[in-house]
Amino acid sequence: MSAKYDQFIANDVTSNRSNVARQMLIKEYKKLGHGAFGTVVQAYLTPDNHKWYGPFAIKKVPAQTEYKSRELEILRVADHPNVVKLEYFFTHVSPSDNKLYQHLAMECLPETLQLEIHRYTSNKFELPLKHVKLYTYQIARGMLYLHALGICHRDIKPSNVLVDPNTGVLKICDFGSAKKLEPTQPSISYICSRFYRAPELIVGCTQYTTQIDIWGLGCVMGEMLIGKAVFQGQEPLLQLREISKLLGPPDKKFLFFSNPSYDGPLFSKPLFTGTPAQRFEKHFGNAGPEGIDLLMKVLVYEPESRLSPRRIMAHSFFDDLRKERYFFPRGHTQPKYMPSLFEFSQFELQILGELASQVTPQE
Ligand SMILES: Nc1ncnc2c1ncn2[C@@H]1O[C@H](COP(=O)(O)OP(=O)(O)OP(=O)(O)O)[C@@H](O)[C@H]1O
Ligand SMILES: [Mg+2]
Repeated sequence: MSAKYDQFIANDVTSNRSNVARQMLIKEYKKLGHGAFGTVVQAYLTPDNHKWYGPFAIKKVPAQTEYKSRELEILRVADHPNVVKLEYFFTHVSPSDNKLYQHLAMECLPETLQLEIHRYTSNKFELPLKHVKLYTYQIARGMLYLHALGICHRDIKPSNVLVDPNTGVLKICDFGSAKKLEPTQPSISYICSRFYRAPELIVGCTQYTTQIDIWGLGCVMGEMLIGKAVFQGQEPLLQLREISKLLGPPDKKFLFFSNPSYDGPLFSKPLFTGTPAQRFEKHFGNAGPEGIDLLMKVLVYEPESRLSPRRIMAHSFFDDLRKERYFFPRGHTQPKYMPSLFEFSQFELQILGELASQVTPQE
């Protein structure tokens, strides 16, 4: 372990599984990322210099701000194969600025989906369709769980999705913007990274639902297919223009229900030729007819018309995953068994309801 990385003792390292707090030594040895609010480092923990736990990804965020305590609250309850698992958490005063930081020690995955997409595009390849299916399906399954708990992620994008390219496992991470939505309470619309923002957020809707995450799922799936962000608006309102180029302009009903007082540009002059189906075909031809059908049912203006997570999981685009349980990990010439995709908990089976049999492979 390199000496330039920190090691320190924290007194209240709480296990999220057992709720027991104890003193531990934390050894950091690699920076994994940094965002708007803090840093993420790879680290090992030890209670006695003997047994070592990890590696974990420790996210440090300033403690005691209302915004960030939601992240801990949500991670503490979330328990799903497609949601990053919180293992330990503790507070610690940083010697560099004497401020208190919340530390979230999560299971560590090797890569983000952003990096994985970049690996292919920088070599002028696209992700194999099987991988697009594998990853999109797991995002939908993670959302099935989160949305059933009322939790909206609010920042779905490839850098907030972790993958293990060797096993094909995917986990949603970064709950720094996530919130449990209450049906009668408004929420701020200035949320979510621009390229992935649902149209209702762009026009200032404050009564949005977890369906904003479904828009993000569509954007991420599209990005895996074409190797770059689907809608790249150069500023917030121009984001709607990019969406209009593919979907056509938003209609009056959509605007009325999203935000009747929106008075920004509508981009109603045709910015395209052909029908939406032809444009989807042109953009996402390599997704095949089923992939295009799915995208056209996800990238939809009206939030309530977008498919729900369970309907996404049941879509025929994923039939391949149900039939043929092997895939070729990047860089491998030998097929590998896919990760667990259909071992549903009782809770998931309940949410899937009558669709459970359609989602599950029929032996
Ligand atoms: N569990 C993990 N395993 C591996 N890498 C991780 C993990 N969690 C985070 N990372 C890396 O750190 C980066 C930043 O983490 P995260 O997205 O949670 O924070 P953030 O972007 O700073 O948060 P915010 O979006 O609130 O500013 C991720 O994009 C990823 O590269
Ligand atoms: Mg992030």
